[in-house]
Amino acid sequence: MEPRYVVILAAGKGTRMKSDVHKVLHKICGRTMVEHVLTQVSQVQPQQIITVVGHDAQDVKATLGDRTAYADQPEQLGTGHAVLQTAPLLADKEGVTLVVSGDTPLLTAATLNKLLQYHTEKGAKATILTATAPDPTGYGRIIRNDLGIVERIVEQKDASHEEAAIQEINTGVYCFDNQALFSALKQVTNKNAQGEYYLTDVIAIMRKAGGIIAAYRMHDFEESMGVNDRVALAAATKVMQRRINHDFMMAGVSMIDPATTYIDVGVTIGQDTVIEPGVQIQGHTTIGKHCVVGAHSLLIDATIEDDVHITSSTIESAIMRKGSDIGPNSHLRPKADIGEDVHVGNFCEVKNATLGARTKLGHLSYVGDATLGSDINVGCGVVFVNYDGVKKWHSTVGDKAFIGSNSNIVAPVEIADHAFIAAGSTITKDIAYHAMGIARARQVNKPDFWDKLPLSKSQEWQ
Ligand code: UD1
Ligand code: CA
Repeated sequence: MEPRYVVILAAGKGTRMKSDVHKVLHKICGRTMVEHVLTQVSQVQPQQIITVVGHDAQDVKATLGDRTAYADQPEQLGTGHAVLQTAPLLADKEGVTLVVSGDTPLLTAATLNKLLQYHTEKGAKATILTATAPDPTGYGRIIRNDLGIVERIVEQKDASHEEAAIQEINTGVYCFDNQALFSALKQVTNKNAQGEYYLTDVIAIMRKAGGIIAAYRMHDFEESMGVNDRVALAAATKVMQRRINHDFMMAGVSMIDPATTYIDVGVTIGQDTVIEPGVQIQGHTTIGKHCVVGAHSLLIDATIEDDVHITSSTIESAIMRKGSDIGPNSHLRPKADIGEDVHVGNFCEVKNATLGARTKLGHLSYVGDATLGSDINVGCGVVFVNYDGVKKWHSTVGDKAFIGSNSNIVAPVEIADHAFIAAGSTITKDIAYHAMGIARARQVNKPDFWDKLPLSKSQEWQ
């Protein structure tokens, strides 16, 4: 196999996106567009990948790191000029150079490999990846002669009426004989409607020099979609989401409504897990087998083990161990560790806290900065008071402790195993094994008080 090189174009401003964020750094299913491109091109076994950066170069470099080399294009004078900036790294190399744009996030390695193969088979100097666009507006058009041979590419703004009617478009992906590419690039001028040095002009230049120009027409137009604005960003997201969901379903994950199920790339989900509508699963989330993720749940960087049941809840940077359940309407915040078979019911919040196996946190509670053992019953409305206005404090509760409803556990305290807290207590001191803590005003009943109350005079209360 000839040596392969890849150039990713990512210097342009992306004006049409109307954004403070560089165009190729906009995300699709949790990953920036340029990372999608980089992931795919990495799979064609290139010797080197060079990304051309200009606008917001620091941001692009910070995102891609050392997964690619870089060439700077301080002034964005066009796609041809952009590729020329890689000359110091590439110009003297022998082999094939694949050029892609940072804004075509749906392209797959499979298509790129087919393109490279076709290029080699045809003995071409250049092979353009083309597609048939239902609406070609905005794309470069492929101009073929009477024999069907590609002569040149004409940009939208330079196209005649007849040329604009052509539906075969330039996807912005090409393979070039590397040496032929750089000698043609030197001849590209900026005499066109946009005053830019177009990469697309090398096609006519190479053709005139007598080289074979091939075009590999892909069937799936969607895959070649270039994202220039927010409308295309949403459209590309839909396509990517459909692919991700399709793969999960083929791998044994059930989705009630894949059209409204939003899962990032890089998420893993085990077999026989059911995902209900409106669910968002983001970041580095992993979900085990036989789970149910209920409607409208949001999971970010969550670790969910097997047999977990989630009902309409939010889980961020937290772990739910085997057989546990949560919801509806509860919130696990960072470093919540929910033990095996633990029950977290409705309207609970857990942050930086561990709940041991089988502990129950049924209703309306806040547990922050605490370590709870196993088999504990946390009554309704219990609050772990962890903040004094300056610092967060930690509390510990032992196994089989019973915390009565509406109690406050004012940190730092240690509640031993088998301790009992009477309902309504505000606990500020440690409680020993088998002891009961009760901290509330004693009840006083005043007999025959009714007549002293103003309501006793009201008609309503007679
Ligand atoms: C380009 C092609 C067009 C093709 C379309 C496919 C040219 C002249 N036109 O048009 O034929 O149909 O892609 O999506 O190539 N860039 C730089 N430096 C520059 C200019 C652009 O790095 O000086 C980068 C951009 O960041 C972008 C890519 O090149 O990632 C393509 O540029 P863009 O302006 O989006 O080109 P299109 O108008 O879409
Ligand atoms: Ca584009």
